[in-house]
Amino acid sequence: MKKKEQMAALVEGHADMLRCPICGGAMHVEALKSLVCGNNHSFDFAKQGYVNMMTRPVKTQYDKNLFQHRRAFILESGFYRKMHVEVSGIIRRLQGRPLVLDAGSGEGSHLDRILDGVDGVGIGVDIAKEGIMLAAKHYPQSIWFVGDLAKLPIRDGSVDAIVNILSPANYVEFNRVLSSDGLVVKVVPESGYLKELREALYKDTDRETYDNTGTVSLFEENYEIVDRRRVTDEMTLDRTALEHLIEMSPLAWNHAPGELDDFIAAEKTVTLDLEILVGRR
Ligand SMILES: C[S@@+](CC[C@H](N)C(=O)[O-])C[C@H]1O[C@@H](n2cnc3c(N)ncnc32)[C@H](O)[C@@H]1O
Ligand SMILES: [Zn+2]
Repeated sequence: MKKKEQMAALVEGHADMLRCPICGGAMHVEALKSLVCGNNHSFDFAKQGYVNMMTRPVKTQYDKNLFQHRRAFILESGFYRKMHVEVSGIIRRLQGRPLVLDAGSGEGSHLDRILDGVDGVGIGVDIAKEGIMLAAKHYPQSIWFVGDLAKLPIRDGSVDAIVNILSPANYVEFNRVLSSDGLVVKVVPESGYLKELREALYKDTDRETYDNTGTVSLFEENYEIVDRRRVTDEMTLDRTALEHLIEMSPLAWNHAPGELDDFIAAEKTVTLDLEILVGRR
């Protein structure tokens, strides 16, 4: 079976959890080619094995280059391993065969690592098509949608867990699609996260340190916190890994050519510092 049909068959088995992003109606798979609602709004399966559920085209700053470096960094460096293990453990405690939505999944490697060894079904949604294309290419066992967090193509109360890693959130939508006893697992940067890169880029400016107070209090306003864990690590990265890190990071978007040459000149120890917030409605 081709990638496109393979994805369509997978989605067909889970079509009851989808809803049309235009009219909110139920959807079904037609001829292993497209997703269609009762009002004939139709979204085609792309040959790479994903569906674009956007109702209008958007341009984002997250491009193919960024996602390729993100993928290489996540998979080759093992930098996020501790976070994957923690989130995986949280998902594993859910009953049955959980449906796990990664909201703002990017190129999908975090979701793939988290679901490794978990008997669950992954659904990744991201507004950046270049990320979802890579995700569908490498992880055909999960379902991938180009879509907007503000208009998830998912039916009310149908997912068991939402993971939301270093990405924006939309709690109105999260609460709509989450089952009544479902969990939201949000991963946010803590003060030490990538502090070495921050220092190199923003020395003596207010962006040198990261403050997540606003993000955390918004989460607390929406959920009862059932668990929260800080994950820290330090890892020595070689030049290749440091280059991936720079290219994958929105932090470095506006750096001038040559500005980071010193940063990648030799091996460097880089800090992981994340907080995992686990909430229930
Ligand atoms: C910093 S990246 C993190 C991606 C991935 N979770 C990771 O850690 O590699 C933030 C992601 O949020 C996505 N994003 C931003 N706004 C979005 C929206 N309204 N709907 C869906 N995705 C969005 C971006 O396209 C991007 O992939
Ligand atoms: Zn419709």
